[in-house]
Formats: sequence, structure tokens, C-alpha cells
Amino acid sequence: MAPSRSLRSLVCLLASCCARLATAIVEIQVKQHDEGCIHLPIIHSTNVRHFTEKRGVQLKLANRSDVAYYAQLSIGTPPQPVFVQLDTGSFELWVNPDCTTVTGSDRAFCERAGRFDSQLSSTLDSLGTTKELRYGIGSANISYVTDTISLAGSRTALQSVQFGIASASADTFSGILGIGYGSGYTTRYPNFIDQLYAQNGTRVKAYTLALGSKDAQEGIIVFGGVDTSKFAGGLVRLPVIPAAKSPDSVPRFWVDMLSIGISPPGGGASRVYEGSNIPVFLDSGSTMTLLPAGLANAIAADFGVAAPDAKGFYRIDCGFTRSGGTVDFKFQGVTVKVPYKEMIREVPGNPMACFLGIQPSEKFVLLGDTFLRSAYTVFDLENHNVWISQAANCGSTPAALNSAQDLPSVVGLCGNQVVGAVAGAGGSGSAAGSGSSTGGSADGSGGAGRAPGTGVTGGVGRSSPGIIRTLGVAVVGVAVGSCGSLIW
Ligand SMILES: *[C@@H]1O[C@H](CO)[C@@H](O)[C@H](O)[C@H]1NC(C)=O
Ligand SMILES: *[C@@H]1O[C@H](CO)[C@@H](O)[C@H](O)[C@H]1NC(C)=O
Ligand SMILES: *[C@@H]1O[C@H](CO)[C@@H](O)[C@H](O)[C@H]1NC(C)=O
Repeated sequence: MAPSRSLRSLVCLLASCCARLATAIVEIQVKQHDEGCIHLPIIHSTNVRHFTEKRGVQLKLANRSDVAYYAQLSIGTPPQPVFVQLDTGSFELWVNPDCTTVTGSDRAFCERAGRFDSQLSSTLDSLGTTKELRYGIGSANISYVTDTISLAGSRTALQSVQFGIASASADTFSGILGIGYGSGYTTRYPNFIDQLYAQNGTRVKAYTLALGSKDAQEGIIVFGGVDTSKFAGGLVRLPVIPAAKSPDSVPRFWVDMLSIGISPPGGGASRVYEGSNIPVFLDSGSTMTLLPAGLANAIAADFGVAAPDAKGFYRIDCGFTRSGGTVDFKFQGVTVKVPYKEMIREVPGNPMACFLGIQPSEKFVLLGDTFLRSAYTVFDLENHNVWISQAANCGSTPAALNSAQDLPSVVGLCGNQVVGAVAGAGGSGSAAGSGSSTGGSADGSGGAGRAPGTGVTGGVGRSSPGIIRTLGVAVVGVAVGSCGSLIW
């Protein structure tokens, strides 16, 4: 979600917690599974092939598009389908936001995401503990329960998984599946990722995230495995910065970034931005990439905008989406090139409004979905590494990992290419665009705003009901299949 999402996990004010955790853990019934991995497709709303057979709710959700990425969980006995936002920047799972606290299309979206009725589940256990979760924007008061949870289409059913049911929430329009560090780091109970591993749903405590480019219209998350058809060559290991040494002291996927640069369209001289050698964390729960103001302004200047608008967005010329430039994120051993089109949020309207996928932030320095769509990432929570490569797309071959030790030998099957790159040059040169394009400025920025920051919070919807917030890439984790084995 937005800036906020990332924060979510940050502040847990009332942590009553855990009195009954020990009991819950003992009660876990382990089911064994052979596959060792579970994969969910991440699908764009415009991909008709995938959506025709799905229920309406999924299609609607897809409209959230590149604002947020969702997975479908089946909770309880019998299973109840509920969509939750996939968030590498937080740690806990909770469902049932109060949809009346959001307005407009946010409410409609919220209501269609599905609710879990605890009364209807024969396997539910109430733990009698509560917690207040606060995010940058939005909050939720939850009561902890345990119940059976499976991923739609998967044979893996996890028993006695602890999660929260919201008794109240503000400015959030879906539940959240935090897939960051859990037990021993941020929670005093095994979170969803911990349970997948503990109950043999996966053989490694690691997962792959390949959101997919706007044009590819399909991405994937593989719990416990990799998909070698989503990148080329080898993966590069980036050690996760330990919480104690990280900027916010929170166990997140903090890594050292060496620089951000820009390769303008038409082969112009590339350049590197000052002050971009900084730690960043990878946050699928944030629509936008958040950077220190000086750095964000310098990048925006190359898109023809001197300063952000009142809501913190850089409105740029939509012509940039058709030019061949890239914004280049350099790490030790690998540079992820993000095509302008992927870095830009296109908000449909008349006229279409475009916003740089970067916002200035005093509080957070994170690479959100506008970066992650162009990267292939494996999050290894056992060995504290992120393995990364430029994203590509040459099919889908999800495979289980037997051990995280195999990661150095994993090779992507695709030819080298920058997904989403615009072949022809054309495009406006770097400084080309007029800072402010025409048209309904206020509304436009409003619409975009929502997405960015918050996929979550209500905000925008209200101020600009006419704006369509669907931007292209949607997500939905639905069908799941079994995984193959890696062949070396
Ligand atoms: C979702 O998108 C479809 C097609 O673009 C549109 O017809 C529908 O009204 C949208 N639904 C919502 C809830 O925005
Ligand atoms: C959650 O509980 C706290 C403390 O009781 C309260 O101050 C806060 O307003 C509640 N949050 C919501 C969204 O209702
Ligand atoms: C998980 O699977 C492995 C081998 O497949 C087995 O040895 C182990 O006992 C299982 N763990 C549990 C908790 O059942």
C-alpha cells in the first residue's frame, strides 16, 4: 500500500499478545506435501484469457491494477475465499477491514475482496488477544485467532495459523498478508511464511516475487521456489542489512543500493544521481518508490518537473511512457533497469494523467512496485539474503528449492532483455516533457495519489470519484499448481 503499508508493521501499539501461543503451536497438525512449493499467478486485469473463467470479484480486484498486488487465501473450514494484499514490508496477516471507513470505489473494492465469517468455521480458535496495527496511513485493531488456511487451488492446508480479524480499521480497504520476517523477529508467533515452512508447505523459508511488467500482464509469486522463466542468467545475492544496522531498526528487506542512474532514450549519456548510494528496503506493499526529497527531485527534473505537487506527486508528460529510457538501480553485482513506462503511473482519464513512480519522503526510503515490476527477486528469510536479477518473461516454470544453498546455481532461462523496454526511440528526451501536462490537474493527481501511497487508504477516491484508478496491472493470486523440480 502505500507509503503507509510499509509502515504498517512498524507500530504495534497495544500488543496484548501471545498468552496462548504456546498452546497454538503445540496444536499444529502437520501435513506433508511433496511439491515443496506453491505458486500463485499474478495477473493483469486486461489479460482476458485469465479472467474469463474467474468470478466477478476477481475481475474487480484486478482493477486495482498496479496499485496493489493480491493473493487469494482460503480460510477456515469449510474454506472461505478472501483476497489480501501481498506485502513484503509487513509481517502479520489480518482480514476484514471496516469498509465503511473508505468511500467511493475504494468501498466497492473493499466489499468485493471477501470477508471471513468466523462463526461459519468449525476449526477456528479465538486466542483472546488483541493488537493495534498502525501503518503510515491507516490502522486496524485486530483480535487474534487461529484457523486452517490454504492458498486457492493448492493442496497445502496449513493448520492453526495465527492471524487477526479486524474489529475496527481506518483507511484500509483490504486485509494484508505480511510476508516479511515473523517469529523471532517481529512477532511472537509463527506468521504465515513461518507456517508454510514449519508445516512442510515449502522446504525453504524463501519465496520468489515476479510481479510482471505492465505489458506482460502476468506475474507470479512462488513460495518455497523459483521460476526460471522470469529472468536471464544467474541471480545476484544481496545480503539483508540486519535490523540493528538498518535505518529504522526494523527487520525488513533492507539492502545496500550503490546508485540510481538514468539512461535517457536514444542512447544519450547516462548519468548517476548524487546521494543515491543509500540503503533501501524492498516493499511490495508500496505502490510507489519513496526516496529522499533531494534525490527524488533530481530524478524528477530529468522528467521535466521541478517539484512535486501538493500531494507529493510528480506529474509528467505521458510521452515518456513511449520513450526508450530507463531508470537504473545499481546494486553490488547487478543493475536493474526500469523502463520509463514501468516507472510511470498512468491514470486513465481525459486526458490521461501520468506521474513519476517516485515520491519524496522524509520517513521512508523504499523501492516499491514501480521498481519491483522490473526485478526478479527471491527473498530468503533463512539466510537473510535477497537474490535479484533483471526481470524477463519467457513462460512459467515454477520449481521448488530443496535448499537455499541451491540459489547460487539457479539460472534463468530467458534471453537477455529488459521487459517492458520500448524498442524504438522516439520519445521525448530527458528534459523534454513539460513539467505539468494539461488537464484536470487536481483530480489527476488525486487519483494517482491514492495509488501510490496507499493503495490502501481511502483518500483519493473521495476527492476524485470520476478518476479511474485502474492502471493496468493487476494482480490476483488465484489458481495454483504444483511445482516441478529444478534440473541443474
Ligand atoms: C473494472 O474494469 C472494467 C473494465 O475496464 C470496468 O468495466 C469496471 O467498471 C471496472 N470496475 C471497477 C469496480 O472499477
Ligand atoms: C483501536 O483501538 C484504540 C485503543 O482502544 C483506539 O484509540 C483506536 O481508535 C482504535 N482504532 C480504530 C480504527 O478504531
Ligand atoms: C517435513 O518433511 C520432511 C521430509 O519430507 C520430514 O522428514 C519431516 O518430518 C516433515 N516435518 C514435519 C514437521 O512433519
